[in-house]
Amino acid sequence: MKLQGKTIVVTGTGSGIGAETARCLRAGGARVIGIDRQDPVITLDGFVKADLSEQVAIDAAIKQLPARIDALANVAGVPGTAPVDAVARVNYLGLRHLTLKLLERMGEGGAVVNVASILGAEWPQRLARHRALAETNGFEAGLAWIAKNAVPQETCYQYFKEALIVWTLTQAQKIFLGRGVRMNCVAPGPVFTPILGDFVTMLGPERVQKDAHRMKRPALADEVAPVIAFLCADESRWISGANLPVDGGLASTYV
Ligand SMILES: NC(=O)c1ccc[n+]([C@@H]2O[C@H](COP(=O)([O-])OP(=O)(O)OC[C@H]3O[C@@H](n4cnc5c(N)ncnc54)[C@H](O)[C@@H]3O)[C@@H](O)[C@H]2O)c1
Repeated sequence: MKLQGKTIVVTGTGSGIGAETARCLRAGGARVIGIDRQDPVITLDGFVKADLSEQVAIDAAIKQLPARIDALANVAGVPGTAPVDAVARVNYLGLRHLTLKLLERMGEGGAVVNVASILGAEWPQRLARHRALAETNGFEAGLAWIAKNAVPQETCYQYFKEALIVWTLTQAQKIFLGRGVRMNCVAPGPVFTPILGDFVTMLGPERVQKDAHRMKRPALADEVAPVIAFLCADESRWISGANLPVDGGLASTYV
């Protein structure tokens, strides 16, 4: 993969898929700057400690990032066992804010990869709502929209992953045509990381049992990271506006 010389910002480098993505990108020759609220667990080329649920903290982090970047991998996320407000802020509003700001530092050949989830697959059922949220202008406006359109705790993780997929799909072509920057999602199925247990709690034993029979096993983080790296690399230069499942075939079993 052509990653040599690229400067890539990765969120969520403190654990799981984000740490593995950073390792994989660095192995390919990229310079990786991590952002996380937790200290890094692997070697990085730069690191900014920040809480990605707060607009002010994100803006402060952006000031510490290089003036020119080639790609952004938005991996940081919280499970649906976290409060709805945190899920909305980290998995959607903060990600969107960071991305829109960093797009200004990217040029032709740039790439954004957003880590969604297999649990975002039902976005077509709520397309109008997700489009309306996607059209809100900025972090505060997004928060205000969510306050008026309450999202239940039980389904908030799925809801904001769906919203992320719809936002990505509605923005991708505008960004590609305007700036030459591609934007895609990857949609992992279950992955062996510290939050896998939270997903089991969140979904309940019945759903977990149902899915267990449909798949070989949860993925390892190093089976997801190379796909994120590929979508950052020049080899994927004609892929934009895609939501790529990385789930060992699990999503296909719902047909
Ligand atoms: N593990 C799975 O089964 C699975 C499945 C599908 C999608 N995902 C998604 O993959 C992404 C990575 O998750 P993971 O499994 O590696 O989990 P993880 O808990 O191992 O890593 C998440 C990282 O995000 C960081 N983070 C969380 N909130 C933050 C905040 N407010 N500010 C800054 N950093 C913050 C954490 O500190 C952590 O380092 C998430 O977006 C998650 O929703 C995970």
